[in-house]
Amino acid sequence: MKKPKVFVTRAIPNRGLDLVLEFCDADVWPGELPPSREELLERVRGVDGLVTLLTDRIDSEVMDAAGPQLKVISNQAVGFDNIDVPAATQRGLPVGNTPDVLTDATADFAFALMMTAGRRIAEGERYVRAGKWKTWSPSLLLGVDFKGATLGLVGFGRIGKAMARRASGFDMRVIYYDPLETRPPAEIKATHVDLDTLFEESDFISLHTPLTADTRHLINAAHLALMKPTAVLVNTSRGPVVDLDALYEALKAKRIFAAALDVTEPEPLPMDHPLLTLDNALIVPHIASASKTTRDKMAWMAAQNLIAGLKGEHLPNCVNPQVYK
Ligand code: GLV
Repeated sequence: MKKPKVFVTRAIPNRGLDLVLEFCDADVWPGELPPSREELLERVRGVDGLVTLLTDRIDSEVMDAAGPQLKVISNQAVGFDNIDVPAATQRGLPVGNTPDVLTDATADFAFALMMTAGRRIAEGERYVRAGKWKTWSPSLLLGVDFKGATLGLVGFGRIGKAMARRASGFDMRVIYYDPLETRPPAEIKATHVDLDTLFEESDFISLHTPLTADTRHLINAAHLALMKPTAVLVNTSRGPVVDLDALYEALKAKRIFAAALDVTEPEPLPMDHPLLTLDNALIVPHIASASKTTRDKMAWMAAQNLIAGLKGEHLPNCVNPQVYK
């Protein structure tokens, strides 16, 4: 029997790729960098399925370039703001994502960023490597405390809740803002507050919201102005949730203590970006879910979504289940 044709926009971990190769006639983009727009539009022509990453913009132009036989788009990520989901739904195309399996890895990483920025670990490491460590000093690289501090979570989905669980082990108070979940589950000690209260009362703010029209530049000059001068901002969600120009001004003027960003706008952050000149900005290259086991599971899930879609079955994880109505 003829295997379905698919385009995979980058080599995903073998746990997923092996499955894709077994079931499909797969064209796997060989580059370390994503295909260019032209290459993407060319390679999708005539395929039955797509495995995509958050670096690929999948809009109606790509769907039309693929053609009417396209049956499924499987994104190896929990976030799917790179895909025009309404355009896919309009074409009856299910879109898959990879939730749950990355919740703990991402929360671990957000917590690690919070501690690294709050306790100035990256700065300390740079200090040692620069040969500046001459003696123990009572006031060297003083950071902020966690015990008793307030953690404000913007977004209280799976990852936000996993942060709240971790924070309880550090004796932190947890407040959160999430318009879709105003009552916390009984087993999690956290209080829902409005956004202004969250900015005013938090010692640490961690972002766990999807990127939507409502959350784009949610962290702007006005919200940063409400934050405590000792507060730390952590972003592991999507870069455009934070207005980086406003963040730069706030960090430079030390109106907040520090920020740790796993995601930026744009990605990668250009090397001449002013944020990279600041010691109180910690920036890492979008790796919050990057543990070996987690990425294996994400790739496997992406393959499962793809294969289900190709067989005409419901995707195990579908972001637009309306296509089945
Ligand atoms: C990573 O950012 C993801 O959405 O999985």
